[in-house]
Amino acid sequence: MLHHNHHHRQYNHRHHILPETTLLLVLIAIVIFISILAISFIVAFLRRMKSRNTNGNNIGNKSCMFNAHSIITFNGTPVDMKRSGCKYGGSLATATYKGVQVFTYKELQSATDGFNPSNLVAKSAFGNVYRGMLRDGTLSAIKMLHREGKQGERAFRLEVDLLSRLHCPYFVDLLGYCADNQQKLLVFEYMPNGTLHDRLHPCDSRSQVLNWGTRLRIALDCARALEFLHEHTTPSVIHRDFKSMNILLNENLRGKVCDFGLAKIGSDKLNGMISTRVLGTTGYLAPEYASTGKLTTKSDIYSYGVVLLELLTGRVPIDTNRPPGEHVLVSWALPRLTNRTAVVEMVDPNLHGQFSRKDLIQVAAIAAMCVQTAPDYRPLMTDVVHSLIPIVHNISFGCSTSSFRFSKRISPRS
Ligand SMILES: *[C@@H]1O[C@H](CO)[C@@H](O)[C@H](O)[C@H]1NC(C)=O
Ligand SMILES: *[C@@H]1O[C@H](CO)[C@@H](O)[C@H](O)[C@H]1NC(C)=O
Ligand SMILES: *[C@@H]1O[C@H](CO)[C@@H](O)[C@H](O)[C@H]1NC(C)=O
Ligand SMILES: *[C@@H]1O[C@H](CO)[C@@H](O)[C@H](O)[C@H]1NC(C)=O
Repeated sequence: MLHHNHHHRQYNHRHHILPETTLLLVLIAIVIFISILAISFIVAFLRRMKSRNTNGNNIGNKSCMFNAHSIITFNGTPVDMKRSGCKYGGSLATATYKGVQVFTYKELQSATDGFNPSNLVAKSAFGNVYRGMLRDGTLSAIKMLHREGKQGERAFRLEVDLLSRLHCPYFVDLLGYCADNQQKLLVFEYMPNGTLHDRLHPCDSRSQVLNWGTRLRIALDCARALEFLHEHTTPSVIHRDFKSMNILLNENLRGKVCDFGLAKIGSDKLNGMISTRVLGTTGYLAPEYASTGKLTTKSDIYSYGVVLLELLTGRVPIDTNRPPGEHVLVSWALPRLTNRTAVVEMVDPNLHGQFSRKDLIQVAAIAAMCVQTAPDYRPLMTDVVHSLIPIVHNISFGCSTSSFRFSKRISPRS
């Protein structure tokens, strides 16, 4: 106690002795020091923001881009969309909405030769798809959505809203749309080699079989598409209808994901889990989602695993023409995927053993992880991407077929 008092007195004493000018100088020095610190913090922060922005806009380096600052809403038609809604015989001038063109009905009518049945390339749940030549000579796929039904209306808004904000070379590009009260059309880039489903399960046997390397490349392309939706988008997006029919192949047989009409924007609350009506396609639905409607990104992982099994086995997810016990692809495949003897026997016979056993076992292991019943044990899409990269890389360097020609636009990473 005494000691303490003594100390105090000494301090006070010294305090009085300090000349006022020195005190002032020290104070000024401190203020200057703090100001410099604050300014350098602000500069560093601004620089980081700037570099993040330029990274985001540089598609060449970072293959996928997401405008994080635009809020995704589906409650109303975008203002521009209403204003420029196309009408029969409307003006031919095109307006743009967020880089996506707005077309008039007349333009799309002439692009498809009056929606001529000879230009019909696909029929989907939401509408027919026509091949069309746009005025600037671009070949495109024009999807005419069914007029009736709320589901079609929601699908239209989702595709326009999502695809005008999310840009990724692993998605089929949305070039534009046309909307008025009666007609809703979406204009996509044209994918000349059709759907993965038609390639894997062709109606006539003359069609060329996809080789092992091409299949794995497509698997990696799709894994990257889902990785982007799940992990590089905030809030994350769940595709909800991932299947081989929604994977289109370009001229180099590279895979791109389409049909975002059922997609769901994840929420940050509840671990991103959403309770919802069960939509999607039988054979691809994760068991927990099918039984309870609880949707997470892990539901997409399951669907991805089913597609991987299709690529491995050449079988469709549900095939009642097969012997009993083989109807459901996942149940038939699961015990075989981790058996080194059985896994070789389950591979698509059309591949004629053109794969290395080591690669096959690795890919089978990925598929087995993805289709697990317990969602928590399924991997993240990033894990899948990183497991596939070395396999695909090795194959493409050891092979000279033209289908391995890398499209420069598509493979900036890895
Ligand atoms: C891409 O980004 C990496 C770092 O992430 C950088 O080293 C490289 O120079 C960039 N390339 C281009 C073309 O900007
Ligand atoms: C894929 O499409 C391109 C362009 O239409 C075509 O030249 C090529 O033969 C197709 N590939 C296969 C395997 O059919
Ligand atoms: C693995 O598959 C082979 C051939 O299908 C079978 O004979 C063997 O019993 C299986 N092994 C295990 C551990 O299931
Ligand atoms: C790459 O492929 C060759 C044969 O094609 C194989 O011998 C080698 O082990 C593979 N390397 C890796 C890392 O998978």
